[in-house]
Amino acid sequence: MKIKVELEGRDFIEVQCQGDNAQAPGAVEKVSIMGCSQFMDMMQTMRKNFGADLKKWPVPEGQDHSSLLLREMILRLRGEWAFPYCEEELCHCRSVSVHTVDQAIIAGAHSTDVVSRQTNASTNCGTCRPEVQKIIDFRLGKKTA
Ligand code: FES
Repeated sequence: MKIKVELEGRDFIEVQCQGDNAQAPGAVEKVSIMGCSQFMDMMQTMRKNFGADLKKWPVPEGQDHSSLLLREMILRLRGEWAFPYCEEELCHCRSVSVHTVDQAIIAGAHSTDVVSRQTNASTNCGTCRPEVQKIIDFRLGKKTA
């Protein structure tokens, strides 16, 4: 099974694991990475400090896009990735997808106002605004009540 996390194909980590259960991925067989220098440095530091087994890496707490991508990968490898919204379209008034909103958050839009400006989500009735906030909180590792 392959697990891939990416920022619009620009920075990505792809891990080939044994088995095909996404909730309980098997041993890591192959890791492919591509990214900006900050992202590559972070991967190198993690490898140096925690070895080759990605499952043993700690979950990054930073809010930069590299930390957010690495955090997703590690949680996926642990079978602990629980994205808070499962529909494809998030903003029905403006037809904005969850993917578009999520990519904006990974790229640095960390408030609902900024996400709205960049994606057009939540710019009409506002019903979707709490869902946008939930995704921001999830991506940034904040606990929601
Ligand atoms: S559903 Fe997003 S603004 Fe109405």
